[in-house]
Amino acid sequence: MEETSLLSLLFVSSLLICSTNQARLTVSPSRSQFFKDEFVSLSCEEDDSSAGWRLWRNTSTKTKAECGAEWGKSTGSSCNISYIDPWDSGVYWCESREGATSNIISITVTGGSVILQSPVLPVMEGHDVTLHCKTKTTPSNLPAAFYKDGSLIRTESTGHMTIHHVTKSDEGLYKCQISSDGESPPSWITVTGKPTTTVPPTSGAPPPASALLHLMFILVRYLVVLCPYFISTVLMVSLYRHRPTGNGSSVSMATTSSNHAQQGLAEDYDDITAIGTERDF
Ligand SMILES: *[C@@H]1O[C@H](CO)[C@@H](O)[C@H](O)[C@H]1NC(C)=O
Ligand SMILES: *[C@@H]1O[C@H](CO)[C@@H](O)[C@H](O)[C@H]1NC(C)=O
Repeated sequence: MEETSLLSLLFVSSLLICSTNQARLTVSPSRSQFFKDEFVSLSCEEDDSSAGWRLWRNTSTKTKAECGAEWGKSTGSSCNISYIDPWDSGVYWCESREGATSNIISITVTGGSVILQSPVLPVMEGHDVTLHCKTKTTPSNLPAAFYKDGSLIRTESTGHMTIHHVTKSDEGLYKCQISSDGESPPSWITVTGKPTTTVPPTSGAPPPASALLHLMFILVRYLVVLCPYFISTVLMVSLYRHRPTGNGSSVSMATTSSNHAQQGLAEDYDDITAIGTERDF
């Protein structure tokens, strides 16, 4: 039928328009290393909750396991782990019903007593990064040694180390050590290139790239928000336009499909043929 093909066309195009939907996975507390038995909350921050974002993970024992079904306690698009375990170490992400994915967060849980607190999300080139070395038992800072890719960078009496103006070369596998307590698991630090918002040679004019990017962002947001209203409006208009033409042109179709609807009427009139002639007008 023409109507169903039109509807499916609308459905496909709405999927295409709405696939600009995005979600961002965040973790609280915001770090990638945890002590065994800590409480951890993960959340998909989404533009559109109707897209059905769910939390998934890969661990060493199970790939693509869903929160609520195989691990954690789920409420909507967030997930809590009451007592996190080394077995919960792995990669976590959000996925929508249509298969769109969020950023990926790597989580490491240690049964030991030292963790490295490093940024969960990629670090922007040029920014500063501070790494903290923490023990499970001592709340105060202890002197710590910091390692990158297996080599000692430096020892800090304060227990934390700042890398100023990170570059791509700072990317790597970091860990720390506190002599009295032991070593943390390693965590990968990713550095992403900064957006090209460098001041153009012609001074005075504002950087056009960032302004354009901002405008694009507003436009995309606008589309995502308006999307459901737009589709439902188009759908209703198309359905409304189809109703009168369907009744007028195809009488045989209308009689068969309206038989059930007029059953109530038929009981009132008793004589079914009377309705048949009535319909010809
Ligand atoms: C999870 O595991 C599956 C199967 O090995 C793999 O295809 C997928 O890329 C993994 N996801 C992530 C985020 O690593
Ligand atoms: C998960 O933790 C958050 C923050 O602590 C809390 O607000 C929420 O109710 C918890 N959800 C479940 C299902 O326990």
